[in-house]
Amino acid sequence: MFLSKEEEADLKGDRGESRRIAMNVLTRLGDGFEADRLVPIESAHIVESSYQIACDAGIEILERLVSLGARCSVPTTCDPAAIDLLDWKDLRIPEEYARKQLKLAELVTKLNIAPTFTCTPYHNINVPKFGDHLAWSESNAVVYVNSIFGARTNRYPAYVDLFASIVGKIPRFGLHVEENRKATVLVKLDLTSVGDVDYPVLGTYLGLEMKERIPVIHNFPRNVSGDEFKAMGAAGAAAGALAMCHIEGLTPEARTLDEALQGDKPEETVTIDRSTLDSVRDNMCTLSGGDVDIVALGCPHASIFQMGRILDLFKGRRVKRGVECWICTNRLTKSLADDLGYSQRLRAAGVRIVCDTCCNDAPIKDWEFKAMATDSGKFARYAPINAGVDVIYGSTEECIESAVRGRFE
Ligand code: F3S
Repeated sequence: MFLSKEEEADLKGDRGESRRIAMNVLTRLGDGFEADRLVPIESAHIVESSYQIACDAGIEILERLVSLGARCSVPTTCDPAAIDLLDWKDLRIPEEYARKQLKLAELVTKLNIAPTFTCTPYHNINVPKFGDHLAWSESNAVVYVNSIFGARTNRYPAYVDLFASIVGKIPRFGLHVEENRKATVLVKLDLTSVGDVDYPVLGTYLGLEMKERIPVIHNFPRNVSGDEFKAMGAAGAAAGALAMCHIEGLTPEARTLDEALQGDKPEETVTIDRSTLDSVRDNMCTLSGGDVDIVALGCPHASIFQMGRILDLFKGRRVKRGVECWICTNRLTKSLADDLGYSQRLRAAGVRIVCDTCCNDAPIKDWEFKAMATDSGKFARYAPINAGVDVIYGSTEECIESAVRGRFE
């Protein structure tokens, strides 16, 4: 990979040890992926803010970088922590685990990373523009910013995101390169209606079937909301390697099918109808119905509009005794919910608002939940492994009904 004189100097350590370490990793990555050069990035979003991901080694790495005076040089946000940083005791987090996560959170801020602790920074905090190069690692966010904003990032692993943020550059390969963003599979939707429950199912299909190929979707609903698209992208990224999908007429690089396909013919064309979605949805569940003891909402982190909708769906009813209903979100959204009176009303309905973390990142095995209802394709994918529960996937409305009845019909 070509390096400028300044970059060569960084690699030799002329501009400090932390830049040397970061540049060393980036050049090896670039050489491995046959990148031609480094490109400047506009922002980064890191995942090693979670103790579940970072572990003790992550604390050691960040301590070393802080002691070397490392600082992020571009706007950088961070993913959820592995605990609710303020109310971790309520989540039954072991004290030693919480202590380590709190230490990690402190180190994150010392590196000049905005302590956002959210997987949806693209909604209101870290909002890219068309064509921006980024170094982001949260997989749902990667799908969102590539597909909706036309920004450019690969799905980076932990520490590549941080080292890119320190240097302010990333090797130019993969989705940073125009030709590699070409759609090669044409996905035609043959559906008379698409409801909120369908988006994560469609995402799961794309994740499982596309592997690393990029689809362009024809006949996609024009009225899709940002919240629906984020649910779809999250499910796709959790089920497979999805990092972007073109939506004809919505993705900035896909004003037409021809533009998304970059003038070529698709290598494959597939049609998705209701029977395709029904069979994918069946496979997203480990139970078809029955008693539930946890209803998990807010994956990716709930927006203020989703919180308002959830409140409406309760229609003045309460969560059944013995059932937990959690909405995972970030502190900015929670403070809006406080101001709107949503938090107080949700709490009165028996809902727990979980901030800074989520049911997947926090260690919740001690709760000994057995059956989870969720409206998230990503939770449905990960919860059996991470939380040791059976899962029923359904719409937000079906999940609220199951919270009230204690049973998913
Ligand atoms: Fe976010 Fe946790 Fe889901 S990090 S995308 S709420 S698994």
